Amino acid sequence: MSSAIRPYNSDDLGQVLRLWESATDAWPGTDTAMRLLLDSSAVALVAEDEGRVVACALGGVAGGVGWIYRIDTANGDDGHELLDALTTALAHGGARLIAAVSTDGDALTERGFRPTGTAMFDREVADVGRPLALNAVGARVIPPGLWDDLRGMDEAKEIIERRVILPLAEPELAARHAVEQPKAIVLFGPPGTGKTTFAKGIASRLGWPFAEIQPSEIGAEGAERQAKLLADTFDRLLDLPEAVIFVDEVEDIASIRHEERRVSPNITNEFLKQIPRMREAPHHLLVCATNSVGMLDPAFLRPGRFDYVLPVGPPNDEARASIWARYVDEITDEPVEVGVLVKASPLFTPADIEWAARKAAQRAFEREHFAGHGSRATTEDFLAAIAETRATLTPELVEAFIADTTRFSRA
Ligand SMILES: Nc1ncnc2c1ncn2[C@@H]1O[C@H](COP(=O)(O)OP(=O)(O)O)[C@@H](O)[C@H]1O
Ligand SMILES: [Mg+2]
Repeated sequence: MSSAIRPYNSDDLGQVLRLWESATDAWPGTDTAMRLLLDSSAVALVAEDEGRVVACALGGVAGGVGWIYRIDTANGDDGHELLDALTTALAHGGARLIAAVSTDGDALTERGFRPTGTAMFDREVADVGRPLALNAVGARVIPPGLWDDLRGMDEAKEIIERRVILPLAEPELAARHAVEQPKAIVLFGPPGTGKTTFAKGIASRLGWPFAEIQPSEIGAEGAERQAKLLADTFDRLLDLPEAVIFVDEVEDIASIRHEERRVSPNITNEFLKQIPRMREAPHHLLVCATNSVGMLDPAFLRPGRFDYVLPVGPPNDEARASIWARYVDEITDEPVEVGVLVKASPLFTPADIEWAARKAAQRAFEREHFAGHGSRATTEDFLAAIAETRATLTPELVEAFIADTTRFSRA
């Protein structure tokens, strides 16, 4: 909508009445709406386009409940922006719950309202200020610290920082040096090495919302309908001013062997169609992740589609030491010999380390619970937990990863 949203004033009355008269939805009728509009507790907003009122939203707050009385739009606008603005205004007016009576439930459910009865909808607003547009597309803001929480993977971090984050964070400097903005990247590596965490870390580092698309879970409907849903999802994400869009297990879509794909060819084709759109969007980054880069169709990986194909590999001793240290600091104040833990966990991924660390904490907790006394987790607790944790990596997996890196990585 190119129109501007502003508070209603009495000069708008004539145009607002005309909007109401032409409405077909069963909101409260014009007389009632008129009375509500003139009430001192009314919250009314209009959208204006070239001096004309093209939409009006009317609500009010009573006893902590914000009521949406009417939303009317001309020229087929879906009114989402106005609904968001009214919800925010009602929340600022003291509403903890927003309720609406409407026969057009779709617009409301798309904005996080749930049906609570015939034509009744409501939505809690304990989270005032949470961007509604993000909720509606399943995107969320990642707290800024996540990038720094990623411990030890210094090499992978540095490459991503330089090649991906900096050009996006400093577009002018990048343009001055004719450095192109990355639009799409692939992360590959064994499970649990931190690919998802890296994707979220990039979003947190850029301050962009993070959205995950799972093409293989897009629903049980027919293949054509699913492709349409995927396209709609991209439409909505591209409507956001900026976003990191994450597609995990991309081999489900782009395996070279069709029978290994978990989605229909329609979805694969739709996904391939969306990549050039992503590449045209200035503030969107597509991050695809895979455990098996060797399974991907080489055409899928080509430079025209993806700027970089980056390995996220097993953590070396140093990396494991800093990942252990992170969890040890959180879990205990006993003196723990991190070096011993590092030696005892040669084939652990970051995910394995996290798992074992939680087990050590659980052990110390149970000991104190059952014995009535005890310390926080000690080196022995961590070693016992390591012994009970099966490492994800094997020497073969590590070797295969090294071979994949030589063959596929492009940084
Ligand atoms: N470098 C790291 N430092 C600390 N924890 C990490 C690191 N990488 C991953 N983790 C933790 O390991 C778990 C698995 O990581 P994830 O990103 O899901 O791996 P992948 O997507 O590669 O399977 C997550 O809970 C994450 O918090
Ligand atoms: Mg993952």
